Amino acid sequence: MKRIAILGSTGSIGRQALDILSGTESRRAGLVVHSLLCYGNTRLLEEQAGDHQPSVVAAISPAPGAPRLPGMITGDEAIGAAIEGADLVLNAIVGSAGLEASLECTRRGIRLALANKESLVVGGELLRPAIERGLVVPVDSEHSTIFRCLAGEACPPARIVLTASGGAALGIPRDELPSCGPERILRHPSWNMGPRITVDSSSMVNKAFEVIEARWLFSMPGLDAIEVLIHPGSFVHSMVELADGCYKCLMGSPDMRVPIAYALSWPEMADPGCSSLFRASDDPASWPGLSFSPMDHERYPAFGIVLEAGRTGGTAPCAANAADEVAVKAFLDGRIRFGDIARVLGETLSSHSPAPVDRETLRETDAWARARASSLVGGTE
Ligand SMILES: NC(=O)c1ccc[n+]([C@@H]2O[C@H](COP(=O)([O-])OP(=O)(O)OC[C@H]3O[C@@H](n4cnc5c(N)ncnc54)[C@H](OP(=O)(O)O)[C@@H]3O)[C@@H](O)[C@H]2O)c1
Repeated sequence: MKRIAILGSTGSIGRQALDILSGTESRRAGLVVHSLLCYGNTRLLEEQAGDHQPSVVAAISPAPGAPRLPGMITGDEAIGAAIEGADLVLNAIVGSAGLEASLECTRRGIRLALANKESLVVGGELLRPAIERGLVVPVDSEHSTIFRCLAGEACPPARIVLTASGGAALGIPRDELPSCGPERILRHPSWNMGPRITVDSSSMVNKAFEVIEARWLFSMPGLDAIEVLIHPGSFVHSMVELADGCYKCLMGSPDMRVPIAYALSWPEMADPGCSSLFRASDDPASWPGLSFSPMDHERYPAFGIVLEAGRTGGTAPCAANAADEVAVKAFLDGRIRFGDIARVLGETLSSHSPAPVDRETLRETDAWARARASSLVGGTE
């Protein structure tokens, strides 16, 4: 039996994980829901608890008037209580708030199925020892692909190629992009995800984060060993170029349940119920044509800004993430337009003085960058 804690159970990744764990194949494979944690949506949490009967339910800050579940743990104790007693933790929290949960898991030696890419963007250096101990299994589809391509491969990787759908922004004329609002940007052509990552996919901030994430996960020498190609079909989920010049990739219909199921069942690889879900990609004759093009830096100015923060290292990626969280929220609230996201990122980072990473410095940087970005979007944090 493998007891699984789901942090962020009410979000897009969390709900898809529960979808997998509801299946008879998952139960047969011994995967059981140990705990559920959300931020404030205890209405959905209550429903999920009824369906999955976890040992622990927790919420960081239940919304006023929202249901209070019997025995529910809240506040500062919530994450520790949800993790306690789990064999595997799926970290599907959104934002830098997920870092403390990742660090807590690895401190306790619990294996981490990591969807929360911000953990690595902000605190990759702090998580490196856990990665080296094999405690971190990626959930992001691109990184799950590379993880699978490298498993059992004797030839070392020379280069990683991450594919990017281009998000909704790919289909919008370039001169219209800066003034776009959420209604156009949230229409992602291939993936159905939470609001922040959907916006980040259109700005390519998400892809720059994924480059930083890949660097830590696969111990690449630097960010230049990781390239991004635009592949609108989202059918090739990324590639690795091996030292002997061969490429390996994983192909299939875009469905996050595949990498989630892989991470939940790894390393046993019992079929957690996916084989019955993906008949659509079974027939190579029905596959779309494969097209790849280089990154379009003019269409996606935020990509280069965040990548530069990744190259700078230290606390710069933490500042980039915090500024982006503030900018995306302001964009979703209708306070700024799409083009302002890159502006907020650029102005926040140009006034940041990067420092070496430790937990305290990261907390200070996060708070500083949020305040700086908030002043740029005309609000307060
Ligand atoms: N969605 C995808 O397809 C996808 C693919 C690859 C990677 N990811 C990554 O997976 C993570 C989750 O993405 P998502 O799209 O599932 O996000 P989402 O739909 O916005 O869900 C976020 C989840 O995190 C919880 N949460 C929010 N703030 C929190 C906090 N401060 N502390 C604890 N929990 C908090 C939310 O609870 P409430 O509902 O109560 O607010 C919700 O359960 C992100 O890092 C994202 O980049 C997502």
